[in-house]
Amino acid sequence: MTHAHHAHGGHAHDDHARADNAPADNAPAGQDDAGLADMLDLDGVVLRDYWSSALTWLRRAARHLPRTRLLDVGAGSGVGTIALAQRFDGAEVVAVDQDEQMLDRVRGKALDLGLAPRVRAVQADLDLGLPPVEPVDVCWASMSMHHLANPDRLLGEVFATTRPGGLLAVAEFAEPLRHLPDDLGVGRPGLEDRLLTALNHQHAHELPEIGADWPPRLTAAGYTVLEHRTFRIDVRPGRDADAARYAQLWFERLAQGFTDSVADDDLEVLDLLIGDGPQSLRRREDLHLHGERTVTLARRE
Ligand SMILES: C[S@@+](CC[C@H](N)C(=O)[O-])C[C@H]1O[C@@H](n2cnc3c(N)ncnc32)[C@H](O)[C@@H]1O
Repeated sequence: MTHAHHAHGGHAHDDHARADNAPADNAPAGQDDAGLADMLDLDGVVLRDYWSSALTWLRRAARHLPRTRLLDVGAGSGVGTIALAQRFDGAEVVAVDQDEQMLDRVRGKALDLGLAPRVRAVQADLDLGLPPVEPVDVCWASMSMHHLANPDRLLGEVFATTRPGGLLAVAEFAEPLRHLPDDLGVGRPGLEDRLLTALNHQHAHELPEIGADWPPRLTAAGYTVLEHRTFRIDVRPGRDADAARYAQLWFERLAQGFTDSVADDDLEVLDLLIGDGPQSLRRREDLHLHGERTVTLARRE
């Protein structure tokens, strides 16, 4: 078996608009590799309805702003960065992340899409503070705040660099996304419940800000919270290669982190799901990606 790290993930639906997908945010803390970047990219594909709903909402809320500069905090592989650059015509988008590998993806996508002159990728450890950025009009922070040692400090710094009237949108999740039917027809029913219980336990130690109540945190940083919206993710992709790969990457990361906290028979089933045999996620037609993501929208008055 191959077990090795951890993951986190989550997702959402719009109260009004329905999202067929969810972003990915569940990537493990501190493990940066091509697998995580792939998973984030697939989050944008498989959960495209969520992304579209959330960013369209932000775009509309920002329609009166001059839109000269946007900031993507913890940009990852750039799903949000690129979508923002496409939606905010003519604006500069600054993507900040600590991981150069991620930022290379951002730069590559920007180049491919003719957005390079407007997309700037900046490497920085946000735990050491926001790097110098010119004043911004809109900040997007997706699945990144819960990674930070002190998100309140960063929120204060983002507030300070936001022009009056500017917006902040914080996308987060309370629980990772679920992918599997309760009874897989292999192993004991309830595998994913047990995995998520173990993951939640792990997150409580490693990522204590997951599931935080973000609106009061934004208020404390000086913002006026405009709305806290829940996006439901409910995607039945059938036999879809992207969704299967997305799930596979998720469970690979889970397996890597759970060698001690999950029963051996569950780890064996996990390996069957990740593998290429008859039980492989790639052969299943019953994946059901579901969960919730939240986006808190706030303004600097
Ligand atoms: C779950 S990913 C989300 C990426 C992207 N925002 C998205 O929604 O697809 C979290 C990102 O935060 C970045 N990150 C975590 N801690 C960080 C820190 N201290 N400084 C800068 N970036 C950080 C990680 O490198 C990773 O790319």
